[in-house]
Amino acid sequence: MANEYRVEMKNIVKRFGGVLALNDVSLRVRPGEVHALVGENGAGKSTLMKILSGAFPRDEGTIFIDGKEEKISSPREAKDLGVATIYQEFMLAPHLTVAENIFIDRLSDKNRFINWKDLNRKAEEILKQLGFEEINARATVESLSVAYQQVVEICKNLTRNARILVLDEPTAVLTFSEIEKLFLLIEKLKKDGVSIIYISHRLEEIFQICDRITVLKDGTFVKEVGTEEMDKNQLVNLMVGRDMSTLFPPREAKIGETVLEVKNLNRGKQVQNVSFAVRAGEVLGISGLVGAGRTETMRLIFGADRKESGEIVFMGESVNFKSPKQAVRRGLGLLPEDRKQQGVLLEQSIRINTTLSSLKKIIRLLGVISEKKDKELTKDVLEQLATKYNSMEDHTSSLSGGNQQKVALAKWLVADCKCIILDEPTRGVDVGAKVEIYKNINDLAEQGVAIVMISSEMTEIIGMCDRALIMRQGKIVGELDKSELGEDKLIRYSMGVNVHEE
Ligand SMILES: Nc1ncnc2c1ncn2[C@@H]1O[C@H](COP(=O)(O)OP(=O)(O)OP(=O)(O)O)[C@@H](O)[C@H]1O
Ligand SMILES: [Mg+2]
Repeated sequence: MANEYRVEMKNIVKRFGGVLALNDVSLRVRPGEVHALVGENGAGKSTLMKILSGAFPRDEGTIFIDGKEEKISSPREAKDLGVATIYQEFMLAPHLTVAENIFIDRLSDKNRFINWKDLNRKAEEILKQLGFEEINARATVESLSVAYQQVVEICKNLTRNARILVLDEPTAVLTFSEIEKLFLLIEKLKKDGVSIIYISHRLEEIFQICDRITVLKDGTFVKEVGTEEMDKNQLVNLMVGRDMSTLFPPREAKIGETVLEVKNLNRGKQVQNVSFAVRAGEVLGISGLVGAGRTETMRLIFGADRKESGEIVFMGESVNFKSPKQAVRRGLGLLPEDRKQQGVLLEQSIRINTTLSSLKKIIRLLGVISEKKDKELTKDVLEQLATKYNSMEDHTSSLSGGNQQKVALAKWLVADCKCIILDEPTRGVDVGAKVEIYKNINDLAEQGVAIVMISSEMTEIIGMCDRALIMRQGKIVGELDKSELGEDKLIRYSMGVNVHEE
């Protein structure tokens, strides 16, 4: 008789030094089942999957694949057993092309002759099958948007004969049309009998595509349930252990003078004649699809890239920041989309990352950094965001994905900014922490900071913004006031469907 479960992980224990990351955790997944793995930031989801995929050794516990006990002591062994993992942090080689990345395993096979034409053609075929023919197989991965990098990562893993596919927050970097494509792909794989383990902080998705759910909390197993036996509220209760009726806390900010104004900004196809203004105390949302030019626009303003033409007025003065450093010094902050590349220094301590942008606050008159002040500040702001960490002197890379995001954000909360641009501020952050971040954004607005928030989560744009702009193909195509903000309108604008035609 065929075994009921494709994967059975039993009584898994994992310690990192003194931290007990997993304590007696179990997980069972059937063939053709989409199984959600949920829990707060730092609950142990990624760690459990890294053990399944051979990236981390376990301290205790057993793993069965199709009923047979397996050691899984290396990534190679896991791959040979058909485990494919799409990590939360990408594992691509940025300077290689899309095709090279997809077939990277085969490239490292030294004795083989590589037919480049064939390689490119095969990559194109796979991309097309997945519905992403617009991705050029010959382009380098670093030239792609984060969303497309994700797609490449998935392609790369599907070329292997995967029987177990682990997706660690796959949609965090995608917008709805891409998410739909991914879901179609998941349906297809499911029909082929692939077992899919799906980690996500987006509850809507879990209820849409998952058959069963395993809940973890603080490294322990809480419950395994069928999706149809639960509703969202019950699931949140299991995850955070409290009711979450108010996702979007109220804000009482007075909207004041214009802080940042951008006039006819241009750079190539990505940024065309972009004009907008944001005022003190205002939260301005920027919605749109991935690749619409939102991040590119913000990078021009921040001095990370050069504009071709246009004017930027900041605090009543025409400015032209030559570098992000200049922008920060004048009181303009940016939380970048790509946390790993630009947001945090992973090999630096949590404390340094938190207070890096606000050294002046902690430098005493004589120019000496006050360590005490530094520590106090760090502790306060990390506590505010409910960040889970061991010691603030630990490397930021030892934090869970969502907690790294909180450190990236914390840095701007302690800096004295007049305007902060937040690019996907709650990406990868659990529900409880999202509310904390929203509260912090509200606090900043109430202190008179002007906030620009790029978000691909429409509920967030609707729940948080006083006003939202929609970008499409490098242009601003719509503007909606709080009273007009709705999911339907946001989708129509960003897809280029006329909003007034019904
Ligand atoms: N390499 C590491 N060194 C030290 N501690 C680690 C390491 N990786 C993870 N941890 C710790 O293990 C715990 C579980 O982390 P894990 O990344 O599995 O959480 P997660 O559930 O995936 O969270 P998130 O939703 O934020 O991604 C956390 O306390 C984290 O700090
Ligand atoms: Mg994780």
